[in-house]
Amino acid sequence: MTKYKIMFSPTGGTKKVLDIMTDYWNDDVVEIDLCDPNFDFSSVKPGPEDSVMIAVPSFGGRAPECAMERLSQIQADKTPTVLITVYGNRAYEDTLLELKTTAEKAGFMPLAAVAAVAQHSIVPKFGEGRPDAEDRKELLDFCEKIQAARIIGIPHFLKVPGTYPYKEFKGLSFHPAAGKECTKCGLCARSCPVGAIPEDDPSQTDRKACITCMRCVSICPVQARGLSRLEKFVAETGLKKACSGRKPNELFL
Ligand SMILES: Cc1cc2nc3c(=O)[nH]c(=O)nc-3n(C[C@H](O)[C@H](O)[C@H](O)COP(=O)(O)O)c2cc1C
Repeated sequence: MTKYKIMFSPTGGTKKVLDIMTDYWNDDVVEIDLCDPNFDFSSVKPGPEDSVMIAVPSFGGRAPECAMERLSQIQADKTPTVLITVYGNRAYEDTLLELKTTAEKAGFMPLAAVAAVAQHSIVPKFGEGRPDAEDRKELLDFCEKIQAARIIGIPHFLKVPGTYPYKEFKGLSFHPAAGKECTKCGLCARSCPVGAIPEDDPSQTDRKACITCMRCVSICPVQARGLSRLEKFVAETGLKKACSGRKPNELFL
């Protein structure tokens, strides 16, 4: 019986939520990183005796496209699975439905789902400090409920919010750029989930390939990469109303 955590977490917020939930297992866990473009995902074959948690962030109310492509390559076999989306205190619209549909096609058997809040990776003041102690308690209590349902063997049909056709999201029009502090160490190029930063000149960004996931900004050791002040201002102003107040975690069993 192997336990897997499968995640796409460019800046670590999604991983924070997933780590809380996999802590519940209190066991060794195999980690599969959907951010790694070079990994052979078709070599991962969880079976019916295994347990999986899959977590992805909501980008524009959708599941990130490259994460879904990589998830589809995994060959699961009726593996009991908990699906998690993490959002930045605005909304997650069709993300869980898209994740559920993709996971089912890959052979996973979703038992439960969670939409949880983490700090917004573009405007960190939204959802700041989350997941916090209250979130942790709520998520661990939910793991307990999922476990109880599995032991009792309650037959159920998991329903998650969302509609098909999914909300359109073509990506954002702004992309992080490198400033003069860039030392061309190449860490961002090696870590970019979509290969949008050339290894031979990491001060550049392929704007067509970039998905504005903010990973390069969050890992740069000298804080050389970022959005412009104007881009940050526009993002913050545009999201202010929709991201206000404390949004709840939503739990589906
Ligand atoms: C391109 C992009 C689009 C996003 N779209 C949404 C959104 O539609 N709704 C929302 O609440 N948060 C949105 N967020 C915030 C992320 O869902 C949230 O910060 C998440 O924790 C990021 O995951 P990570 O920290 O694992 O990278 C977006 C972030 C990015 C980078």
